[in-house]
Amino acid sequence: MVFFLPVLLLTGWAHPSFANDTLPVYTDGGGHPVSSPYDYQRAGPNGPLLLQDFHLIDTLSHFVRERIPERVVHAKGSGAHGYFEVTRDITNITMAAPFSDGVGTKVPLTMRFSTVAGEAGSPDTNRDPRGFAIKMRTSKGIWDWVFNNTPVFFIRDPTKFPLFIHSQKRDPQTNLRNPTIQWDYWSQNQEAIYQVMILFSNRGTPASWAQMHGWSGHTYKWVTATGDWHYVKVKVIADAGLNNLNATEAKNLISSNLDYNTQELQGRIAAGNFPSWTVAVQTMTPAESLKWKYDVNDMTKIWPEAEYPLLEIGKIVLNKNPDNWFAEIEQLAFSPANMPFGAEPSNDPVLQARLFAYSDTARHRLGPNHEQIPVNCPLAVDNYQRAGWMRVDGGAGTLPPGAANYPSSFEAPVSFTPRPYNLSAIADPKQSSGYGSDVLQTFPPGFRAAERSIQHGIH
Ligand code: HEM
Ligand SMILES: *[C@@H]1O[C@H](CO)[C@@H](O)[C@H](O)[C@H]1NC(C)=O
Ligand SMILES: *[C@@H]1O[C@H](CO)[C@@H](O)[C@H](O)[C@H]1NC(C)=O
Ligand SMILES: *[C@@H]1O[C@H](CO)[C@@H](O)[C@H](O)[C@H]1NC(C)=O
Ligand SMILES: *[C@@H]1O[C@H](CO)[C@@H](O)[C@H](O)[C@H]1NC(C)=O
Repeated sequence: MVFFLPVLLLTGWAHPSFANDTLPVYTDGGGHPVSSPYDYQRAGPNGPLLLQDFHLIDTLSHFVRERIPERVVHAKGSGAHGYFEVTRDITNITMAAPFSDGVGTKVPLTMRFSTVAGEAGSPDTNRDPRGFAIKMRTSKGIWDWVFNNTPVFFIRDPTKFPLFIHSQKRDPQTNLRNPTIQWDYWSQNQEAIYQVMILFSNRGTPASWAQMHGWSGHTYKWVTATGDWHYVKVKVIADAGLNNLNATEAKNLISSNLDYNTQELQGRIAAGNFPSWTVAVQTMTPAESLKWKYDVNDMTKIWPEAEYPLLEIGKIVLNKNPDNWFAEIEQLAFSPANMPFGAEPSNDPVLQARLFAYSDTARHRLGPNHEQIPVNCPLAVDNYQRAGWMRVDGGAGTLPPGAANYPSSFEAPVSFTPRPYNLSAIADPKQSSGYGSDVLQTFPPGFRAAERSIQHGIH
């Protein structure tokens, strides 16, 4: 009978004489010291590997799970931390925090900038709109402003979004970028023209994320403590002014530095040259909206600033680079549904669709407990949500042992906050009370139905 003795192969890096009590101890994922990161076990010199070798298995199995899905759009990007400061009393426009907490209130925020169509490793100077996402941690919950660097958008019908994005992504046959499908889509969906004109100006290639403006695009409804309300659009104005690349400069950067904008932002902040923006709103009363020449909820149109002037309300400063990019930037999850009382969605169907889509993709990309990840976590949270993958707060850490997982009769009461205004009373003046009317879309002649084929293997 032959015995294969497991032999721990010691590498030069892990000789026991290297033990040093003053240094952190290298361990496996379970906290057990291992003599070297490079060690593994074999059944004798030159023998096969051993299933008992937890260190190798732990190292490999964790490594092969390092990737999470990248964002389906806006995959390439980066960001930083800073604060939002209230600079004007606008309690005549909204009761929302941080504005309700008074002029001078500062709340911590994190911003992420991105391109739309490219993959996570694609050049950040590609011609594309730039995502301009802001996560504010207010006293009344998270307020996400998931904006772009353009005042308008390509679509005003929510079902178009996935199909429009497909036309900007890689060709399904060749996996190559294909300008024909990109332009074919635009030729058939001409409400995109305003956004396309902006995209093919130098604004499609910003020189610096710190030198572009952000816009809500959508109309929102902001409500005061007395139930008075306005339609609102938000503009975030770069204090350093706009600065764009021309096509030649952008093309050169695309091939010479995939991460030019990322590096530029981190360099500014590291040098103490903190990017800042002035936040302003345009407001429109419900009565004015009925006289407006376009649909107030059509995000392919702007409200001219000469007719609806900007009112400055706040300031944003970015003053801290991430300490850990994956933890603080890749795991960021923004959702337009994250709004405090005083901010309400308009009936813009694209916005309404987004209220669903972002939290949904976060549950897929990061899991059902993504709101517990520190960068996404509100300042205070207390509810009856329990368990789920990767729950790390003990399932309501503030409750005493034995606490019920429902509003029970034997615990200290939780305070419940009714919505402070009547949603019916702030309904869009053009909203009908009817239910379920299909918005029919027509197609130009020559439109081809989706290709469908059922194949059983490749022959
Ligand atoms: C029906 C329309 C839309 C849908 C379904 C949609 C969906 C999505 C999805 C699924 C993501 C990835 C989110 C993630 O993985 O965390 C995303 C990212 C993003 N979207 Fe949209 N989107 C829409 C329209 C818009 C519009 C109109 C804007 C701007 C006004 C916008 C701005 C952004 C930004 C800034 C990001 C990146 C967020 C980040 O940095 O993590 N999107 N969108
Ligand atoms: C342990 O490591 C520290 C830091 O590198 C070094 O200063 C010290 O001399 C080491 N001690 C021994 C016993 O090797
Ligand atoms: C709200 O008050 C500000 C002054 O702080 C004023 O400039 C603005 O016009 C008011 N807006 C509305 C909609 O009443
Ligand atoms: C682009 O900018 C460069 C300077 O960086 C300049 O030399 C070139 O003429 C510009 N091209 C156009 C088309 O404006
Ligand atoms: C809410 O507003 C609607 C429409 O103005 C009104 O009919 C209803 O009575 C209001 N409800 C409450 C509780 O005030």
